Amino acid sequence: MNTKTKSDALLFTPLSIRGVTLKNRICLSPMCQQSAVDGMPQDFHLAHYGQFALGGVGMVMVEATNVEERGRGTHQCTGLWNDRQTEAWERVTTLIKSLGSVPGIQLAHCGPKASCTPIWEGYQSLANDRGGWPTISASAVPIDGSIWKVPHEATEHDIRHMTLSWVESAKRAVSAGFQVIELHFAHGYLVGSFLSPLTNHRSDRYGGCLENRMRFGLEIARGVRDAIPDCIALGVRLSVTEYHKEGWNLEQSIEFAKQLKQIGIDFLDCSSSGFTLNGGQTPLNTCREQLDAAAVIQQTVGLATAAVGQIVDPFAAENILQSNGASLIMIGRALLNNSHWAYEAADALNAKTFKYPKQYDWCIGWTGLSNWRTSIYRKCDSK
Ligand SMILES: Cc1cc2nc3c(=O)[nH]c(=O)nc-3n(C[C@H](O)[C@H](O)[C@H](O)COP(=O)(O)O)c2cc1C
Repeated sequence: MNTKTKSDALLFTPLSIRGVTLKNRICLSPMCQQSAVDGMPQDFHLAHYGQFALGGVGMVMVEATNVEERGRGTHQCTGLWNDRQTEAWERVTTLIKSLGSVPGIQLAHCGPKASCTPIWEGYQSLANDRGGWPTISASAVPIDGSIWKVPHEATEHDIRHMTLSWVESAKRAVSAGFQVIELHFAHGYLVGSFLSPLTNHRSDRYGGCLENRMRFGLEIARGVRDAIPDCIALGVRLSVTEYHKEGWNLEQSIEFAKQLKQIGIDFLDCSSSGFTLNGGQTPLNTCREQLDAAAVIQQTVGLATAAVGQIVDPFAAENILQSNGASLIMIGRALLNNSHWAYEAADALNAKTFKYPKQYDWCIGWTGLSNWRTSIYRKCDSK
């Protein structure tokens, strides 16, 4: 039987952002599933996202969902550019809310990284004559010549049109019941291609100096903020560094964060990488710099951050929050591996505010019957 005093773990302390209150600070990190049909989520998505809501996370952030058809990474990626998609997403948000979690959505446009085969079919660029489509970017520079095709350079007309697509999708997200929206400006996708001096070779007001490279992202952020209700929380996912001495870096991220904050962006989700030219993707296990950046940005800019990257141990998550290293903890693969990670974390941290869903609470929480608990994190606790 567990006789320890219950704690006030910050991980399980509610967090309010605008009109949205998360019951705890654990958030499912957005992870594309490449299982949609015509951009619409399927029964798979209900089961997939439902499991995390039932598993007790404060927010379920659904995968990169594209604001226009040509922005999709693959034919199987989700979208939010028509009414049928809006209705299909409403089933998902209704389920997530009914299970006590907050539904969030990541809006995206893959830009130069669009038109690929699904990951389990090799993640190869899909040629235009084999079911693929032309891609678009800041400049006609492929992210990685050996994988992605040469995109076409966006005209100013394209930029205006795409900005409107982001705004329209955000309005659809609100209609579908999402309470949090995250704009995907990371990983070398469309907006990332404008931010990076490596992929932005433009000579107009969208290229060159930092102010110009940030312009498109800031216009999207401003357009979306103005178009959605005040109570909806709005965040941005950014690659805080691209690990290249001539590329996007922490200093530029800090400046961008300051300007996003002025626009009314509520949090910055600090990821990294994705632009690397001819070097392939930086591996998913390069996380130290993005965690450090989340701390620096939250502390110096005063903008709430989300920390992400290889966070598996609840004590590590708690330490990040306790040290003012972030306000939110995004968990990706650890939740895929164990959708009840929050149960384990609450058990390990002995969190007094944690509650199982009522259907489970009466038996799991039964006094005297807690010997069955086998939290793999317990051993850390007994140190
Ligand atoms: C299967 C899979 C799909 C992903 N899809 C997205 C995505 O749609 N949008 C995004 O910003 N990041 C995506 N990522 C990155 C994750 O959100 C997360 O940042 C990364 O996995 C590191 O966190 P972790 O170590 O907790 O998994 C994906 C990662 C995985 C493993």
